[in-house]
Amino acid sequence: MKVNGKPYRTIWLGPDGKGVEIIDQTKFPHRFEIVRLKTVDDAAHAIKDMLVRGAPLIGATAAYGMALAMRADASDAGLERAYDRLYATRPTAVNLRWALDEMMRVLRPLGTQARAVAAYKRAAEICDEDVEINKAIGRHGLGIIRDIAERKAGERVNVLTHCNAGWLATVDWGTATAPIYMAHEAGIDIHVWVDETRPRNQGASLTAWELNQHGVPHTIIPDNTGGHLMQHGMVDLAIVGTDRTTANGDVANKIGTYLKALAAHDNNVPFYVALPSPTIDFGLHDGVREIPIEQRSGDEVAKMTGRTADGVIATVTIIPDGSPVANYAFDVTPARLVTGLITERGVIAANREAIRKAFPERG
Ligand code: MRU
Repeated sequence: MKVNGKPYRTIWLGPDGKGVEIIDQTKFPHRFEIVRLKTVDDAAHAIKDMLVRGAPLIGATAAYGMALAMRADASDAGLERAYDRLYATRPTAVNLRWALDEMMRVLRPLGTQARAVAAYKRAAEICDEDVEINKAIGRHGLGIIRDIAERKAGERVNVLTHCNAGWLATVDWGTATAPIYMAHEAGIDIHVWVDETRPRNQGASLTAWELNQHGVPHTIIPDNTGGHLMQHGMVDLAIVGTDRTTANGDVANKIGTYLKALAAHDNNVPFYVALPSPTIDFGLHDGVREIPIEQRSGDEVAKMTGRTADGVIATVTIIPDGSPVANYAFDVTPARLVTGLITERGVIAANREAIRKAFPERG
């Protein structure tokens, strides 16, 4: 997607063809800074400290992390060490494991001399595949938005989204945002309600920034506003992303997604999940009990960072000294609350049979 008119992906090879460049997402929305990853430790740090985030981009960064590792030590021990180092970074998004397993599948049978070249090649393919998956999700989701626009006789379509499942969370296009960008490009009058997404504000700082860059009409709302908007007919559909979806269609996504799904259910608002297939965990069958939920530092809740009136980026504490804090980063929306899964192979029901039918080779 374009930043100030220049096309970017979220991850690419630097000029030497070895270092990996990313956009530091901790600096948004006030600064656009590119960071070069030179080692597997750089890649692990970028994932853990959320310079990159979003399930597909975590996977893509891990894939390149393996390539960086192979440059330094392509032995079997080096391979295992890199896998373990990257796997330990974040627990919820299953794309991380998917990408690491994929790299292992390709690299393990090779001799040490061949591993680095093969690793860069497979990492680049994983990135390209992500872009194609998201474009397909966009085309399928566009059909849903088009149907609603036709039913409303061209009147504005209002979409609610949570967190950032935009191009910054993927290699390009985004998952939840791909249908939105395509609808906008197709001339459909579309407007996005952007949940701010406390505590890290991925909606307010990332999704809003993206939509702004692309001229898509949007409004940032505090996280608790969605239910009110739905009660008043101001949301036509919700589209969110996912970090891990079980074989039966339970969906883990950023904390607060479940409450939006409950409100949507109560108000007959369609609730869609944009789901690239690497995000499906075919080994799990009960999302609430089985999906590991990341707990992050209480500082993310206790403090906020922003720009002061004189342009300085400052961090302030917003809670009383000594108050304990809980910071669960994700929650699980049961399949029964999901209207449909927008996958690269079409829009399917959130149940075991439909998922297995759409992805028979994996199920
Ligand atoms: O903690 P984050 O910012 O990595 O959480 C991201 C999300 O919850 C996204 O909605 C999800 O990864 C899907 S991204 C296409």
